[in-house]
Amino acid sequence: MARYHMRSLILFLLLALLASLSQGFLRTEKKIKSAVFLSPKLVMSPGSVSDSYLFDMDFPRGHIGLKSFDAEVVDEAGNPVPLHETYLHHWVVEPYYVRKGAKLPQQEMFRNHGFQRQDPKSNLDSTSSDIILVKNGGLCRSSVLRHYFGSGSETRNTSTYVPDPYAIEIDNPEERPDGYEFKWLLNVHAIDTRGVEDKKGCIECLCDLYNVTTDSYGRAIRPGYKGGLYCCYDKTQCRVKSGFDNGEKTRDLYLKYTLRWVDWDNTVLPAKIYIFDVTDSWKKSVGDSQEHFCKVEYDVEPCKTNGDGCIDVKKKSLVMPFNGYIVYGVAHQHAGGIGAALYRENGEGICTSMAKYGNGVKPGNEAGYIVGMTSCYPADPVKVSYGETLNMEFNYSSAVGHTGVMGLFYILVAQQLPEPELSLPNLFQAPVGSVNVLAFLAVTVLVAVVVLMAAVIYRRQNREDGYQSLST
Ligand SMILES: *[C@@H]1O[C@H](CO)[C@@H](O)[C@H](O)[C@H]1NC(C)=O
Ligand SMILES: *[C@@H]1O[C@H](CO)[C@@H](O)[C@H](O)[C@H]1NC(C)=O
Ligand SMILES: *[C@@H]1O[C@H](CO)[C@@H](O)[C@H](O)[C@H]1NC(C)=O
Repeated sequence: MARYHMRSLILFLLLALLASLSQGFLRTEKKIKSAVFLSPKLVMSPGSVSDSYLFDMDFPRGHIGLKSFDAEVVDEAGNPVPLHETYLHHWVVEPYYVRKGAKLPQQEMFRNHGFQRQDPKSNLDSTSSDIILVKNGGLCRSSVLRHYFGSGSETRNTSTYVPDPYAIEIDNPEERPDGYEFKWLLNVHAIDTRGVEDKKGCIECLCDLYNVTTDSYGRAIRPGYKGGLYCCYDKTQCRVKSGFDNGEKTRDLYLKYTLRWVDWDNTVLPAKIYIFDVTDSWKKSVGDSQEHFCKVEYDVEPCKTNGDGCIDVKKKSLVMPFNGYIVYGVAHQHAGGIGAALYRENGEGICTSMAKYGNGVKPGNEAGYIVGMTSCYPADPVKVSYGETLNMEFNYSSAVGHTGVMGLFYILVAQQLPEPELSLPNLFQAPVGSVNVLAFLAVTVLVAVVVLMAAVIYRRQNREDGYQSLST
């Protein structure tokens, strides 16, 4: 009896050792924290536009690794608001450093520092400024598309999770300038389409429906510009059906955002954010030194023929200014969007992100709206080399025309891959040299010790069994 117990104990120990090895016992599970925040209120009435820049928004402080950022518009009771009532054009998050003690009123910050995209000059890059923006890795490095994350109507059903062991590094104390604090700016652009004459026209920001002839800086809108961001800025008003009661329907809404993060340590690998814009004016033939001028929005002309072929395909080739591995990708499109693809020059696919449409009325499933974009989690991180050309392609349905549509690709790039895990299958498969020699030795010694112990116990047991048999 005892013998069988001992044997099964040894077997159990061995199995447990193997199991823990194959799970990579040196890797510690990181505890993912999460928190839900509400933005300051957005006061919305039928046809109104709120394009607010909210400084110093609530956010987990300290040196952290961001794992996901999800958001949606809710009402005062916390109920999700459907897109056919309040269209979420976009929310974007921009980190910045602010000099401690600097007390600029929000409006002044907004005006003087050109946070708004149309402002041609911006003094935010100078380190003498009270505010230093923290930009993404590129490629549009001027005042547009410098934000870290963002999404639009698709936000409810788009996965933003950064795969393990990567995270977006936030507020590394070694990078923070002396005397500055790390903060976040949240820009929310929402359009209230209750009771409007033309919902599609309002969400595509048709200048006529907004009765707008000048942009938010009072400059004349260029001739031929039919619709887009220049016509639906903060406090503009889209045309409401006559007789639709305006006064009673003002309400307070909020962007509710949910963050997941880990405390930073050396088991977390940083992933950098890059945003590619299909309207980027950069051309390979001109060379490296040119600026990436990103127009952000474009129009889709309605197709001439009726029927199936009505797809607008917009392509762009860009040369990559980094080495690294793509670990996540997602596209951003407006209603009418079909999907987007990122691929190598030889045609090899890297990421395809397709639009998901709703087919009902409930929040998250609104018919006619993009309620989600599929995101890419490459099984093996996709290696990209400095100087390599990547292509992207954005498809829109052109059965009807669209104004002010977008074609953005967000990608996360890791500079470094995790060390191969210390597991038995990996130990045997990994090429020589790629496995930490010390770790290999440690495992070998451990296995040897267990086998030795097993042998000793087994022999001792056999002896005991022998005595037993003699005594019976
Ligand atoms: C999208 O919605 C479906 C159905 O409600 C759900 O199963 C899925 O988890 C959602 N995905 C994301 C990324 O939110
Ligand atoms: C449109 O704007 C013009 C001047 O900018 C103004 O006179 C007119 O009343 C506006 N129309 C509506 C419907 O608001
Ligand atoms: C875009 O449309 C073209 C032409 O119909 C098609 O070949 C391509 O696969 C589409 N790409 C995506 C990402 O939908």
